[in-house]
Order: sequence, then C-alpha cells, then structure tokens
Amino acid sequence: MNKIAVVENLNVIFGNFYAVKNVSFSVDKGEIFGFLGSNGAGKTTTIRVLCGLLPATSGNVIIDGTKFTAGLENIIKRKVGYMSQKFTLYDDLTIEENLEFSACLRDMDSSTYEDKKSQLLKFIDFKNDTNQIVGNLSGGIKQEIALVTSILHDPKIIFLDEPTAGVAPAMRDKFWNLIKKLSESGKTIFVTTHYMDEAENCHRIALMRSGELIALDTPGNLKKTTYNKPMYLLTAHDAESRKYLVDNSQDFFEMFAPYGLHYHAIISEMLDEDQTLDNMKKYCTFQKISPSLEDVFIKLVEGDR
Ligand SMILES: Nc1ncnc2c1ncn2[C@@H]1O[C@H](COP(=O)(O)OP(=O)(O)O)[C@@H](O)[C@H]1O
Ligand SMILES: [Mg+2]
Repeated sequence: MNKIAVVENLNVIFGNFYAVKNVSFSVDKGEIFGFLGSNGAGKTTTIRVLCGLLPATSGNVIIDGTKFTAGLENIIKRKVGYMSQKFTLYDDLTIEENLEFSACLRDMDSSTYEDKKSQLLKFIDFKNDTNQIVGNLSGGIKQEIALVTSILHDPKIIFLDEPTAGVAPAMRDKFWNLIKKLSESGKTIFVTTHYMDEAENCHRIALMRSGELIALDTPGNLKKTTYNKPMYLLTAHDAESRKYLVDNSQDFFEMFAPYGLHYHAIISEMLDEDQTLDNMKKYCTFQKISPSLEDVFIKLVEGDR
C-alpha cells in the first residue's frame, strides 16, 4: 500500500458552520503534501482531525492502514507527528526539558530517547547548549527544535502547520532542506504554508477554500491548467503609464496583479489580443510568461480579479 493517509467525505461542523466540507484526498508515502488556503479555509481543522485530536462530524480517515474509530486515538497518535500552528514549545523551559517532556508524552524509554535526541539534534545541525531557555532562541531555531519534538517518536507522517510563519528567509530555506531530507528518508510530510516559494517544493498541492477542497495536483500541472489564456508580464514605461494602466485595468484585463514593480496580466476576453497589446506599447513593454503558483492561488483561492 503506497497511501499513508486516506480521507473520504470528511465533514467538520461547528454548530451549523462547516469548517471542513465533504473533503476527500489521499497522501502517498514519502510525499511532501502541501495544504494551502487563506486563513479560515479549514487547514488546521483538517490537520487536527488527521492527528486524532478532533473528532470528525462525519467521513472516514485512515492513517497508515488504521481507520479512525473511537478508542483508537492512541494508536493514531503514535503514527503521526504534529507541529501545531500556535503552540510549539514551552518558552520558560530549556530545550532539554521540552524534549524530555515530549518523550514522556510518547512513553519513550530513556535509552531510545537519548539515541533519538542525539540523532535528531545532529540532523538539524544543532551544536549549542541544550540547557538554554527556549524563550531566548531565534524563531528559526525554535521551529527546528519544535520539529525535533514532533518526530522524536519516529512517526511515519508528520503534520507541520505553518512551520515557517514569521521565520527569517534564510532559516526558512534551512527548514525546507530538513523537510526534503525527511521525505527522502521515507517520511511523509503534510505541510501548510502561506509562502508560494515554499509551496513549489511540494510534490502535490491541495488548495482549500471555505472548507472545501478546490484543487489537488502537482505545482507544475496547477500552473499549466489554471489559466487557459496567455499571461503577460507588463512593465510600465514610467509612473504616468503605470497610473494609466492601473486606472484602466478593468477595461483591458481579466486579470491584473502587481508583481513588485511589474504586473501579471491577461487580456480581457472582450478585446482582440494582438490589437490590445499593440495599443499598450505606448504605456508598457510586455512579455509572455507562464503563470506562477502565486497566480494560481490568486485565481483559485481569492477568485478572479
Ligand atoms: N473549535 C471551533 N469552534 C468554532 N469554529 C471553529 C473552531 N475551530 C475552527 N473554527 C472555524 O473554522 C474555520 C476554519 O478554521 P481553521 O481550520 O483554523 O482554518 P485555517 O487553518 O485554514 O486558517 C474558521 O472559520 C474558524 O474560525
Ligand atoms: Mg491554521
């Protein structure tokens, strides 16, 4: 069996609000599975169900061959690692104390714990004192230690809920190298992020909107299939031209999104493309481009502009 997680018709309802609505997907062993969507899309809620921390209202969840049923929560919890979005470590405890605490929660015996601890500290290349108070660590190091606490018990699938939010770019890269190494060693990574450059590293991406799964594919396929019209990179000649383009964007474009000082644009369906581009030469240069993952996100998650 090459599926590590299977989710069928999952619903999570709070009162009469569907936080997760009829969601089905499966995750392959060893995959880096990206779970994307705006705030409130239902990502954390789904993860909490898959970790056995929140009961589903209805639907099936199977993790590593075990179907979720009341009473089996502890078996599930042993199979999964979870790095939560808000809480990761106790700030007023040392690194050592945080690691020990996680090991205790997982009922690890002390020799397995010591082995795993030194192996994983080496894995994240941590050479400093583990008797430091966690509250004094930088955001990036703290997240790496949190990753260690979530995989001490050697889970097959690891859920990382916005693990790099607010982390400095260089440290985000370092964290993603760890994710890739874990995946290469056979672990499955289920990860949420708001950074599209990070999402590019995922084997497949699921996109959530208002509790519903609206797309699931590789980054390459999502970029190929989301738009069926050519996209252009526009660069305005000067400030005046830029203002003209922005002011008239509704008339010319069916998509017009700022990218630094440039724009990604799709010519309106109502207009003749060649003629419009020709008219535009007065205001900007343009170059045909492939959509970015950001463009995919804009169209599918935020809706057409
Ligand atoms: N325990 C809860 N009770 C009521 N509503 C909740 C609860 N947990 C989450 N929600 C709501 O469910 C929706 C999805 O939340 P969440 O899964 O945290 O989204 P995401 O992680 O994608 O930002 C949000 O509107 C949130 O307010
Ligand atoms: Mg969340």
